This record gives sequence, C-alpha cells and structure tokens, in this order.
Amino acid sequence: MPESPPSAPLFDPFAPGFTDDPYPQYAAVREAAPVYEHPFGFWLLTRYEDVSWLLRAGLSVEDDNVADGPLRQLREAIYGSRSPRASALSMLDRDPPDHTRLRRLVTKAFTPRAVRALRPRVTALVDGMLDEVARAGQADLVESLAFPLPFAVIAEMLGTPPSDHERLRELTGLVVRSLEPVIDPEFAGAVADANVELTEMAAAMIAWKRANPADDLLTALIHAEDEGAVLDDDELVAQTLLLYIAGHETTVNLIAGGTLALLRHPGGLAALAQNPDLVPNAVEELLRYDSPVQASRRITLEPITVRDVEIPAGAFVMASLAAANRDERFWGPDADELRLDRQNAHQHVSFGAGPHHCLGASLARMEACVAFERLAARFPDLALDGDVVWNGRMNLRGPAHLPITVA
Ligand code: HEM
Repeated sequence: MPESPPSAPLFDPFAPGFTDDPYPQYAAVREAAPVYEHPFGFWLLTRYEDVSWLLRAGLSVEDDNVADGPLRQLREAIYGSRSPRASALSMLDRDPPDHTRLRRLVTKAFTPRAVRALRPRVTALVDGMLDEVARAGQADLVESLAFPLPFAVIAEMLGTPPSDHERLRELTGLVVRSLEPVIDPEFAGAVADANVELTEMAAAMIAWKRANPADDLLTALIHAEDEGAVLDDDELVAQTLLLYIAGHETTVNLIAGGTLALLRHPGGLAALAQNPDLVPNAVEELLRYDSPVQASRRITLEPITVRDVEIPAGAFVMASLAAANRDERFWGPDADELRLDRQNAHQHVSFGAGPHHCLGASLARMEACVAFERLAARFPDLALDGDVVWNGRMNLRGPAHLPITVA
C-alpha cells in the first residue's frame, strides 16, 4: 500500500491564495486548534482572549531566546550568521531594562504634540495627491496615495534628505521581509545586503545631522536625554530605522486595505462623505477588519500554559492580531462584516497591546483619518478598475496595486 501523504498543516501561510485572503484559514485554526503548534516549530494563537493576554504578559521579544529547533535552524539556514534585522537593537526587539530605556528616550522626541501639529501638512499632502488622481481620472491608489503619504510624512518628520528617498524605499521594501516569520530563501541574500546598506545610510544621516541640527525628529532623537541616559550610536541607528520602516510600511496597508474594504462595502465611501464625523470610528473598524500588521511574536522564557496546552520555554509564539480581530467569541456573529459604526471597534489589537503597544498609533490614525475624509469628500463614487494585486506578505500584508477610477 502506498504511504499516505503527510497531512497538510492546519495553518499553511504558503498555501496558494493565503496572502490574498488569510481569513478562512484563521477561522479554521481558531476553531480547531486555538493553541496550535506548527510543524515548522512555532506556536500560533488566534483567539482574541489569548492574543490580548499574550501581548500583555511581558514575554520576551529577543530572538536569541528562541531554543534550538526547526524554526531557529530554518532561519539560520536561510540567513547564515547574518542578522535578518537592521533593527536588532530597536525597542521592538528588546526586553526590559533596554526596552524601557529606549522607549522612554524615543517618546521624548516623538510627542503627541508633534503629531498633532502635523495635521495641516498631512492634509496638504493628501489634497495634492488627490488633485493628481482627479486630473488622471484613474490611478493605482497604492502608488498615488497609500504609499507616498506615510513615506513623505515619516521622511519629513525625521528630516531625511530627499536625494536618499528612492534608495531608501527600495531598501526598506526588502528589509520588511525580515519581519515575516519565515522568508523565501530566494530573497535572503538581498535582504541581508539591504540590511547592511540601510544601516550605513542611517549612520551617515545621523553623522550629518549631528553636524547640521534642524527642527526634526532625528535631531530630537540625537539629543533625547532621560535622567542622564542618551542613545548610543548603534541604538540611534536602530531606532531611526524602526521609526522609518514602521512609519510607512504599516500605514500604507491601512490606507490601501481600508480603501479596498470601503469600495467592496456598498455605500462605504458615500457614508463617510455624508457623515465625516463617522471617519474616526470607521478607521478603527478598518484597522480591525483587515489588520495592517497581521501578527506579533513573543518568546517564552519559561513554560506557559494556554487553554490547558503547555508551550515550552524557548518557544516562538505568534499572536495573530488579524485572527483575534475577527474572533466571533469577542466581536459577535458579524465579526467578518465591515460595520463602520461598530461600537467597540477601537478594541481591536491591530496596534498590539502591553509594553510594545505601537508608539506611532496616533500618527497612523491621524494620517488615515485625513486620507479617508478627503478621499470620501472628493470621490464618493470611487470604484475599483481592475484586479487588486496583494503584496504576498503574511505579516505586513496589504494591496500592492489598487486600480481605481474616479468616474
Ligand atoms: C509597534 C502596528 C504605524 C512605530 C507596533 C506594534 C504593532 C504596530 C502591532 C507592536 C508589535 C509587537 O507587539 O511586537 C502598527 C500599525 C500601524 C503602525 C498597524 C499603522 C496602521 C506606526 C507608525 C509608527 C510606528 C506610523 C512611527 C512613526 C512603532 C514603534 C513600535 C511599534 C516604534 C515599537 C514599540 C515598542 O516596541 O515598544 N506597531 N504600527 N508604528 N510601532 Fe507601529
């Protein structure tokens, strides 16, 4: 008798079509195995209650704590000894006391007041971009709004030289792949090289800013001080790259994925045009409906028990923000529906939770509110004009191309 083929894993991010629509798989694993051990050697949590708990539980985020096993070996086989992350010293990858110190220092520079002051500039940028769309009549909304807006905002905030922008965009497009749990070995060399070049560019930018201080975030980071502590050169590079990458590679998915959800939802944009006061709640619902960052990872330093399942020490645990945001147990039977007036939409976990809760949440919300408010006001009849192409990522997932027509 022929041997039966090994059964497909319950969760398979490499399955055809997964990155276009991962939600059916998330629903299946959430029901059948809410604490799921993947054959690749990582664990996956998908229920809202478990994900919210894990994010707040104070577990490690330092990849060195992952025990030897299939996942570690896979990553080492792909990357060799070269670190997959340009930002290994960033707060996102550090545990206390480093995390606490780094986050406090960056918070000194990245203040809510600085974010609020940006609103008029963001509005002007959006209006300029939408003028171009109106002139052309058709556009790829990713190229005309969703990408250039957050990219321009974080680049201007940091004060990066415009001559670097093209190259920075290419390099960050590669480096974000290292935020995926596993990357295609085909890209590993290019990602590692991009890492090195990006680090060098950031170091050169910082050296230049030291000599030419200005009223910008990079200068503020260089001079940030908290009870005598300052960021050393390597830490400065890592926080700069984190802000730079997190500042645009995430918000692009919110604006593009959010627009797509509104276009697929009958009367979605028109409802926002008629009632602009609905926009802030709609942004929360769009964040919930299609999480721009689909997962966060934690590493256990000692065994933990979730729903009677013991996860050993040294395990890599993925908290699926996307799956938690669609969990019927928490959201009710209409969890898979977009409801722009959903009362508790703000309880989504799209910005994470606990000690690593997104530092840029208020900036992302502001950019999205302005973008959707202006888009709805200008083009309430906006329509899809062709096939959506997804970016093929499991974590920082969103449309790569979103063809639209304004007529
Ligand atoms: C952390 C999502 C925009 C800066 C995070 C985390 C998530 C997230 C899920 C937590 C990761 C974890 O728990 O391991 C998002 C989404 C965004 C967005 C969905 C847009 C829609 C931004 C922006 C910035 C930013 C615009 C800055 C300009 C950061 C930083 C952290 C972070 C610095 C690390 C915080 C820490 O480790 O203490 N973000 N983010 N993010 N985000 Fe965002």
